[in-house]
Amino acid sequence: MTEETFRKIFDASPEIVVRAPGRVNLIGEHTDYNDGFVLPAAIDRTIRYAGRRRADRRVRVYSNDFQATAEFDLDDIQKDKVKTWSNYLRGVTKFLEGDGHRLTGAEIAFGGNVPREAGLSSSAAVEVGATAFWNKLLGLGLDPVYAVKLARRAENEFVGVPCGIMDQFISALGRREHALFLDCHDLTYRHVPLSSDVRIVVCDSGVKRALAQSEYEVRLKQCREAVAKIAATGRAVKSLRDVQTADLDAMRGSMDNLLWRRAHHVVSENQRTLEAVKVLQTGDMERFGELMNESHESLRNDYEVSSVELDKLVELARQQKGILGARMTGAGFGGCTVNLVRAEAAESFVRAVEKGYREAGTLAAKIYVCQASDGALVSA
Ligand code: GLA
Repeated sequence: MTEETFRKIFDASPEIVVRAPGRVNLIGEHTDYNDGFVLPAAIDRTIRYAGRRRADRRVRVYSNDFQATAEFDLDDIQKDKVKTWSNYLRGVTKFLEGDGHRLTGAEIAFGGNVPREAGLSSSAAVEVGATAFWNKLLGLGLDPVYAVKLARRAENEFVGVPCGIMDQFISALGRREHALFLDCHDLTYRHVPLSSDVRIVVCDSGVKRALAQSEYEVRLKQCREAVAKIAATGRAVKSLRDVQTADLDAMRGSMDNLLWRRAHHVVSENQRTLEAVKVLQTGDMERFGELMNESHESLRNDYEVSSVELDKLVELARQQKGILGARMTGAGFGGCTVNLVRAEAAESFVRAVEKGYREAGTLAAKIYVCQASDGALVSA
């Protein structure tokens, strides 16, 4: 698709094509920016870039999704207040140049089928795709973890949206038929095979993640405050990752209840994620599902980032045959739920949840049965 668009817009063949997937997080939510553990999978929805070099230092980029062109010079990369879709590429390009990679001008077309603002990390896919694009076009030989960090910097420092490292990491380094277990403290990671007896079903609530950014910032701050409170008691903690359940229990009465609950989500979610990896390896998918369910309760009650619609989707999911576990996924406040469903029940699950959600409210759910896929920087 993107190749054809390129041909149409630039009247030439692209030199290269790259793709970067969106993601779904199975468990380990709001833990990445607390130095904790996550277990996402890359999905079979991707952003594709097609392009070729130019002899000068101009970059012309066409967005298939926005049907618009933007243009900038490699020596003066500024944020575009109108064509905001071009800022991910601008950010990545600026930071690559800033790090001493000498780029050339290029003609680029990009687009894809990762739903926007649905909590499936379309922006991470656009950033990682841009990084993979330059890497391949110019043979930069970037170290994959460096590329991930650079893509995240583009989101944080150029686009100006706070986030942890999970989304860019999985978009770059996910693997087909595997989840990725990542320690966000030291960025060590391991691919864990997913059982072929289960399906990952993503249900998009249709609610755009309106409050997500401001509430995300609030949660970030609260986590830092909680760490400061705990550290002030003489415990050697730098992040919530270092906090033990027993320490937190001991502080229940002496700590502000809201901060305590925020910390409790993160500390318990880290425990759940560690257990989830273990049971995934032993094939105990029922326990895996229970952990997902517990994660949702914790996100709803302690972390307070769920929504009426997400809770409804989770409730409906849990009534279906073949369901193992259901929870909201991503930042929250709209977006999607992730469900683990026995393979043979997946089809009827999709139909029943679609129907139930339609009958319960005014919005239609979009439901995807996902295949775990390769990341942009994983060689096949
Ligand atoms: C968003 C962020 C991630 C992560 C999740 C919550 O997707 O981009 O870094 O913090 O929210 O787990």
